[in-house]
Amino acid sequence: MKRFHVTTFGCQMNEHDSERMKGMLESLGYSEAAAREEADLILFNTCSIREKADERFVSHLYEARALKRRDPERVIGVGGCWAQSVKDQVFRDYPFVDVAFGPGQVHKLAEFLTADSLTAQGFFEFEGFTGHLPHKRARELHAWVQISAGCNMKCSYCIVPSTRGREVSRPFEELVDEVRLLAAEGVREVTLLGQNVNSYGMRLRPEPRKFSDLLHAVDAIDGIERIRYTSPHPAHMTEDVIRAHAELQSVCQHIHLPLQAGSSRVLKRMRRTYGRERFLDRVALIREHVPDCALTTDIIVGFPGETEADFLETLEVAEEVGFDGAFTFIYSPRRDTEAAEFRDEFVPHEVQVERMGRLVEVVQRRARERAQRFVGRTLDVLVEGPSRYDPSRLRGRTTHNKVVNFDGLAVPGEIVPVEILSATSQSMTGTESLLSRVA
Ligand code: 5AD
Ligand code: SF4
Repeated sequence: MKRFHVTTFGCQMNEHDSERMKGMLESLGYSEAAAREEADLILFNTCSIREKADERFVSHLYEARALKRRDPERVIGVGGCWAQSVKDQVFRDYPFVDVAFGPGQVHKLAEFLTADSLTAQGFFEFEGFTGHLPHKRARELHAWVQISAGCNMKCSYCIVPSTRGREVSRPFEELVDEVRLLAAEGVREVTLLGQNVNSYGMRLRPEPRKFSDLLHAVDAIDGIERIRYTSPHPAHMTEDVIRAHAELQSVCQHIHLPLQAGSSRVLKRMRRTYGRERFLDRVALIREHVPDCALTTDIIVGFPGETEADFLETLEVAEEVGFDGAFTFIYSPRRDTEAAEFRDEFVPHEVQVERMGRLVEVVQRRARERAQRFVGRTLDVLVEGPSRYDPSRLRGRTTHNKVVNFDGLAVPGEIVPVEILSATSQSMTGTESLLSRVA
């Protein structure tokens, strides 16, 4: 039996696509190898969001080349955003690659592998959702559900619109059927995925649909206890979506709302289509309807032209909102993006690093402070398995997406009340509330 090995880089959409690749390969009769050197088919699902991601991946690719030199029968495949963004050069620059495919072309991998002759081939036109392929889930209780592909926004720093193409939504009924099937397989939590997840359905024909309608329909499916989604765009964070968090039992009390910058001038040059006030207004509306909602975000520092005054506005917003967590990135120029042309205004690297240090200090302090609101409370925790640090304890997550390591008797898949004893910016500790077991 032939064996495959997949290495996944990048975002949750890639994790989802990799699960589909694995499912498809198993249905072709392949099995998964524990290590790359044991595989006949070495696959990479790549990311290109920042330059570092490219560099990391290319060193892995050269490792695969060394393995292929030892055993020339091995097949090397490269899928995902990096493959898409270098499609014209990939076979020239990396002649040992056998097959390359973009995010909308995963199914072509099967066609390639079952063809009579394995000559190098590339597939790059968007043709279909990976959500149609069989899957092999990494977590038994959790499933990714791809609701749309592509992105119609034009954020000036972002490579995604050029790698993932125009936005396409999957039909509403098809998604509801897919989640019903997942629930029947025992899935208790779903994460709805889209590059711009909350603009779902606006261009569906014959009847446009709203993202909030999808939340209602998925909430109504028996067995689905928790619904998450990523990533929404603040511009499409409408009141009906926010209300769904308050009104629907299974929609989690956590929203990942990417800020990117706190200065309206910078946001405008990023082409984010909202300013500082509009972002703060969305946060206020979320807190009005869902006071306990956890908020996390993405922030870029050192965007071209960002002055000290602009950066201070980012610090102010981070201070004022008090995010429960934030991913912070140093701006990295990407090929074929508008901001990469703002070369004259690039912020020196030392300045970027210094600003990053100040931002991380504020973000972590506020996240630590925010987390203290949970201490002393008893929260429902969905048990995922043993704690990574101490296998005699358990690990799970609250609706706020906070990891809790706790003492208890529960088994994976159960939702149990846990009394929270301590909290940091990253995780919490607790003990299972045994009263509920006696009852
Ligand atoms: N440089 C730095 N960070 C970026 N991101 C996207 N493009 C870039 C870039 N060119 C960040 C954004 C986005 C997250 C996934 O990655 O914050 O929300
Ligand atoms: Fe990139 Fe902007 Fe689309 Fe997000 S919304 S994927 S940041 S272009």
